[in-house]
Amino acid sequence: MILPIYLYGHPVLRKVSEPVTKDYPKLKELIEDMKETMYSSDGIGIAAPQVGHNIRLVYIDVDVIADRFPELKGRKMVLINPELTIDEDSKTVTREEGCLSVPGVSENVTRHEKLHIKYTDENWETHDEDIEGYLARVIQHECDHLDGILYVDRVSPIRKQLIRSKLNNIVKGKVRCSYRTKGFKPAHKH
Ligand code: NI
Repeated sequence: MILPIYLYGHPVLRKVSEPVTKDYPKLKELIEDMKETMYSSDGIGIAAPQVGHNIRLVYIDVDVIADRFPELKGRKMVLINPELTIDEDSKTVTREEGCLSVPGVSENVTRHEKLHIKYTDENWETHDEDIEGYLARVIQHECDHLDGILYVDRVSPIRKQLIRSKLNNIVKGKVRCSYRTKGFKPAHKH
């Protein structure tokens, strides 16, 4: 089932998410729904808070950008309770990012290019991997969501100023989007 994507301004995107437990209700179904939602909105990564669940769960499929990054051919990951160690000694790279929760905006973000990740997959098998390059960026972006951080928090102050009105419009629900969304509507005052 395709789920609505929660938009910038919604408080669910700003919470620190809880670890996933094996008995989380309908976990398999949620993972399938996240995949379907991500593919239908042309994303390459989606985090559970973006569909309204504050749990530490991410889905990534970067196969679609394998024309630019051949090493990503066929690469997809379900990350349950990921733990990142960013290699602070690795070089930093600046590239443009976007986010399904921030439609109509894309901005440069500087990130380290190497990290180590420990995670569990959907079959509760544990993985330990060294990752570098573009996938390391996608993983950092998605795992930020689990800590209530959005990539726009990481753009330069000057750029942040320049996109302020776009962000405010998203909060007010003044945004056009090709996929189903759920915005934050403040309560009516009488
Ligand atoms: Ni995002």
